[in-house]
Amino acid sequence: MKVQKNSLTPFLKWAGGKRQLIHEIFPRIPEYEGRYIEPFMGAAAVFFRVCPPKCWLNDINQELVNCFCTVRDEVEQLIERLSSYQYDKDFYYQIRSLDRQEGGLSNLDKIDRAARFIYLNRSGFNGLYRVNSKGHFNVPFGRYKNPNIIMKEKLLACHSHLKRARITQMHFREVLLKVEKGDFVYLDPPYLPLSKSSNFTNYDKQGFGENEQLELAEFLHYFNRKNISFLASNADHRNIYELYEGLQITKIYAKRSINSKSDGRAQIGELLISNSL
Ligand SMILES: C[S@@+](CC[C@H](N)C(=O)[O-])C[C@H]1O[C@@H](n2cnc3c(N)ncnc32)[C@H](O)[C@@H]1O
Repeated sequence: MKVQKNSLTPFLKWAGGKRQLIHEIFPRIPEYEGRYIEPFMGAAAVFFRVCPPKCWLNDINQELVNCFCTVRDEVEQLIERLSSYQYDKDFYYQIRSLDRQEGGLSNLDKIDRAARFIYLNRSGFNGLYRVNSKGHFNVPFGRYKNPNIIMKEKLLACHSHLKRARITQMHFREVLLKVEKGDFVYLDPPYLPLSKSSNFTNYDKQGFGENEQLELAEFLHYFNRKNISFLASNADHRNIYELYEGLQITKIYAKRSINSKSDGRAQIGELLISNSL
């Protein structure tokens, strides 16, 4: 199957999102016959660019997965609910605090939870998703001139491309165990931190440590032996060169807009690991 290019961009902002790298990633996706699989979908920038007919998207983040399923299954109601959200600091903190109140989130139906998720993403600082050790969302209110919270056209376009997608919430291991010959897998895990202060991508309260990086690398070496095509992104770190020795490693460049230090906004390299370049 030839990979078709599409101009659709994600409906969410996401730390580590691949929008600025799509021109490097897209041409490296090989032809494949089976499913397109993303075990760490985040905002799924690569998926929306490829728009594959048979696909499986996954992430460990329950609220994110609920949001994607709602865009796929109940987009009209979602747009309607979003229209009652206001871009206002007090309202933001009220909506944010729901996960700190007993039953606050579980009392919402899945459409309201998805609307809350999109609202926090569009109105919170830099579109970050960050939770503390108790799983409470703790991103402060963001200052925007006129944020587009509803994004009707974008949500409808994303809905039409998600219609056929299988979307799950699992540990990446559960997905990778089910990959078959002919599938193509794009993997964009939380990166190995370059320094202690650069590790702000706390997408999940369990975090993503050395053991997860090792387990992931073992899967990719296994896929290589089985001739299963994949592309994986990770940080430009010497440990990554060691972990993926024997595979193809290419350095590519992106502009990062989410970073705590201003010099972090300069071009920084990152790695693409593959067996099919
Ligand atoms: C770098 S982001 C992916 C960004 C995505 N490619 C995009 O374009 O927006 C990494 C994702 O991995 C997810 N994640 C973290 N630990 C995971 C795990 N153990 N299993 C599955 N997903 C996980 C996070 O929730 C996060 O959304």
